[in-house]
Parts: sequence; structure tokens; C-alpha cells
Amino acid sequence: MSKKVLITGGAGFIGSHLADDLLKEGYEVRALDCLSPQVHGEKRDRPNYLHKDVELIIGDIRDKEIVSLALQDVSIVFHLASMVGVGQSMYEIRKYTDVNNLGTAILMECLIDSSVEKLITASSMSIYGEGAYQDGFGTIHHNSKRYVSDLKNKKWELYNDGQELQPVPTSENKVPALSSVYALSKYDQERLSLITGEAYNIPTTALRFFNVYGTRQALSNPYTGVLAIFASRFINNKPPVIFEDGNQQRDFIHVSDVARACVLAMESEKANGEVFNIGSGKQYKISFVAQKLAHVMGKEIKPEISGEYRVGDIRHCFGDISKARKLLSFEPQKNFDDGLLELSQWLEHQIANDSIEKANQELSKRGLTI
Ligand code: UD1
Repeated sequence: MSKKVLITGGAGFIGSHLADDLLKEGYEVRALDCLSPQVHGEKRDRPNYLHKDVELIIGDIRDKEIVSLALQDVSIVFHLASMVGVGQSMYEIRKYTDVNNLGTAILMECLIDSSVEKLITASSMSIYGEGAYQDGFGTIHHNSKRYVSDLKNKKWELYNDGQELQPVPTSENKVPALSSVYALSKYDQERLSLITGEAYNIPTTALRFFNVYGTRQALSNPYTGVLAIFASRFINNKPPVIFEDGNQQRDFIHVSDVARACVLAMESEKANGEVFNIGSGKQYKISFVAQKLAHVMGKEIKPEISGEYRVGDIRHCFGDISKARKLLSFEPQKNFDDGLLELSQWLEHQIANDSIEKANQELSKRGLTI
């Protein structure tokens, strides 16, 4: 008999792709998802992209009864249910803490009495805060940070003794430096999972995702990832708004690679009790990403550089993925050009309600853009 897998947040962007992969591998898939209006729209319909064989339970991760029900007969759990906006987390503090931290705590209590044999939790590169940096002497700095006084003067980069530091790939050894409520909640999810897993002999893995992009990312959610936000602006023939100067760097990993990493972590005993960076091993500047997306979407729209800092944002972070390569045999397969092309083809059939201006005003009126 095939094993049953529960994906919390399974109707979402990453969860739905993972569900497709698991079904192909012969697993039975159940999704627990609240179909949040911010992601799925006010009607909260079952998304069309969700594979018909996924058993969808509509419910909240903070509802202990529903979570226990969702865990019945389940062998493997992927915990992906989360609120995901860094900016939004800085004012919806209670909501983020409630859904992400408390939701995970409730899931953990329910797991104790379940038949689950393996837990994989989605963590995030955001827990690192700033990535790793190197100075002119080759010394690696793990505690670099930026100061509001510098950011007000549009001094965006990081310095040590007056010398500009260069970003280098960040490995799992970097001590977390939590710079947003969202990051704090992801770290909480990761640790709660590993601590509970160890205490109750449930093999557990936390995957620190870098910036995931691809089809099915919610386009009308102004708090989603940068590529989906930029896509929504282009669809509406408006310029994307770039914070800072656009030279900040991120590691964009295609959702198909993330789904594969999830399956590898599930299948490998070497993953038990471990954390892994799941990124592409490459990095790009945000302004370059905006240009590239405009190009594949056939738009001649120049981005607007706001020159403002979004509170909670870090300057550069990209992953050292050697641990996942070594222990999980993980190798990213979709290069950025192919991933963007696939995204642009999907975007041709999408409608996006662009509310980014309103979202940015929300940040600005609270002093969360500087
Ligand atoms: C993102 C995800 C986070 C995930 C992490 C790792 C979101 C909202 N954030 O965080 O959930 O855990 O990757 O996978 O999905 N930017 C602009 N203009 C915009 C929006 C963003 O210039 O309209 C800039 C930001 O200032 C930042 C960069 O783009 O410098 C990336 O922002 P974002 O997509 O929010 O990602 P992360 O904060 O890296």
C-alpha cells in the first residue's frame, strides 16, 4: 500500500508542485490548507492547478482538531503552511507569530500522538539575516549588519573598519541573525520541528529555502516574493518598484528544484536531524532580475528605483549548497533563463490584481520604509 503524505500549505505555490512530484512517485497526498484570501482570492476556491488526486482539507493550522484529523493514517509530513511576507510581518506581528509559531506548535503536539515517521519543515534563508561577507584579507564575517544612519544616507553596502565587505556564499554554519518577525517565525518553526522530532524519535529535516520562483506563485498578493510582484506589475504595464538601488543580490531557485529537494530529503536517512540550504548556488542583482523578466515578458518598462530601504530587508544573501549536494545528491536543474521563460509563458494566461502601491503605502505610513 502506498504511503500517505500530508502537506500543510499544500494548495500553495511550493506545496502544489511538491504534491505533483509525490503523486508521480506513487504516494497518496493530502493537503491541509486554509486557502488564505491573500493568496487564493476572496472566493477561496480550490485552485485549478492543484492536482485532482490531492485530497484537500480546508482548515487552519492553528485548529488542533482539524490538524489531528489531517494527520490520520499519515506517514510523512511536509510543513509548508506559513505567512510569507517579510514587510507585512513587521506590522502584522501577532498574525505572523500566531500562524507561523503557534501553528507549528500545534502541529508538533498533534505529531506526538500520530503515526508519522518523517517530518520535513520549510525553513528559510531569511533566518541568516545578512549573508556571509569577506573582507580584503579574506576573513569571513558572520555578524555584519547595516545601520539606520547609513541607510538614511543611502549607504547600502556593509562595511568593516570603513572597508566595504564582499558577499560570499552562506553556509548552514552561519549563526542566525533574525532581522524580521517573519525570519524569527521561520527559525521558530525550524527549531520546534527539530527539537520535537528528536524528543519523540520522528526523523526530522529543515530545509532553508532561498528565493523560490516559478509558476503558481500568487500574483495578486503584494507581500509575495519579488519575482511574482514584478510580474504582476509588468502584466499591468506598470514599472516594478525596486527598493534600495537594485544592486542587492539574491539566490533564485526554481520551484521544481525545491520540490525535488523536498523529495530527496524525505527519502534520505542522511537528512535526519539536519538543516540544508536549498538554493541555486548562483546569485543575481534585483535590478538585473527586473530587466530579465521585462525582456522575457516582452515589456519595455524600466523599473522605478525607490532609493528606500524596506525595514527587515537584508542586503545580500545567497546559498552555499555543498551540504545538500553532498548528503542529498541535490543538484539544481532549472537554470534561471529557462525558469524565467517558463514563468513568462504561464504569465501570459494570468490576471494579476496589482495592489503593490497600497502595500508599499502601508509600509511607508508605519515608517517601515526609510
Ligand atoms: C523571500 C521570501 C521569503 C522566503 C525567502 C527565502 C517573500 C515575500 N519572501 O524573502 O518568504 O522565506 O525569500 O525563500 O516571498 N524587492 C523590491 N521590490 C519589491 C519587492 C522586493 O525591490 O517590490 C526587493 C527587496 O527589497 C529585497 C529583494 O527584492 O531586497 C527580495 O525581496 P523578497 O522577494 O521579499 O525576498 P526575501 O526578503 O529575500
